[in-house]
Amino acid sequence: MPAGSISSHGPPSYSRFFTLSILLIFSIFLRPVSAGPRNYTIDDQLGDEITSHIPTYAPTFAWATQDCQGCGVDPDKNQLFDGTATSATFMPDKNISSNTVDFDFNGTAIYIFFTLFYNEGNGVTVNTECNFTVDSEPAVFFNHTGDPTKPANQVRDYKALVFSRTGLTLESHHMKISMSDVSYHVFLSFDYAMYT
Ligand SMILES: *[C@@H]1O[C@H](CO)[C@@H](O)[C@H](O)[C@H]1NC(C)=O
Ligand SMILES: *[C@@H]1O[C@H](CO)[C@@H](O)[C@H](O)[C@H]1NC(C)=O
Ligand SMILES: *[C@@H]1O[C@H](CO)[C@@H](O)[C@H](O)[C@H]1NC(C)=O
Ligand SMILES: *[C@@H]1O[C@H](CO)[C@@H](O)[C@H](O)[C@H]1NC(C)=O
Ligand SMILES: *[C@@H]1O[C@H](CO)[C@@H](O)[C@H](O)[C@H]1NC(C)=O
Repeated sequence: MPAGSISSHGPPSYSRFFTLSILLIFSIFLRPVSAGPRNYTIDDQLGDEITSHIPTYAPTFAWATQDCQGCGVDPDKNQLFDGTATSATFMPDKNISSNTVDFDFNGTAIYIFFTLFYNEGNGVTVNTECNFTVDSEPAVFFNHTGDPTKPANQVRDYKALVFSRTGLTLESHHMKISMSDVSYHVFLSFDYAMYT
């Protein structure tokens, strides 16, 4: 037997073993890690991280950003998601019949986060009352009452979960947040939403 044929039997199986080992290692490390459902964010101003759609605020003049001068509430921007929030005070005596936030999301669950306030000084409306409506489902009411005995401009609940709905079919859904039909002032500060 020529010496060359012996040496040609050894190295090929050795390199085949190496090739298989490398393929095995790659198949372990390259396995998709995010096979399950995950959450996507809809920021109040930067919008949906997938579609870039930005929520609609109506009437536009009634909504203010975190940079509003002369607004009663003054949240710590560093505590807000993406440093932004959009707020309104519903004032039926100013001839506004409703304040609304509308957006669509394509998913099976939705979570909505507000900033909640307790005391932002005398005469500043901090009571949050609103209704959440998914598609044409019955509205879900939310109510958070301030506390004037708390130190002013200091106590806030940032990134507070105020509404969630799970178990939806995977398709595009409509979300509406509204303040309407009350005879007194109510307030809300929308920070962001997440959907699954
Ligand atoms: C999405 O976020 C919500 C609220 O934080 C959480 O309860 C839920 O488990 C998250 N879902 C996924 C798939 O990460
Ligand atoms: C209130 O709004 C209605 C409808 O937009 C308008 O007809 C009416 O003049 C307004 N009233 C005041 C006091 O601004
Ligand atoms: C909101 O909550 C406060 C405190 O729990 C309660 O007194 C008030 O009646 C509630 N308002 C509505 C409209 O449910
Ligand atoms: C919603 O997402 C699913 C899964 O990614 C996709 O098949 C479907 O076309 C999307 N629907 C809309 C209306 O974007
Ligand atoms: C929430 O919806 C209920 C039922 O339609 C309504 O009576 C109430 O005034 C609404 N509250 C706010 C703050 O929009």
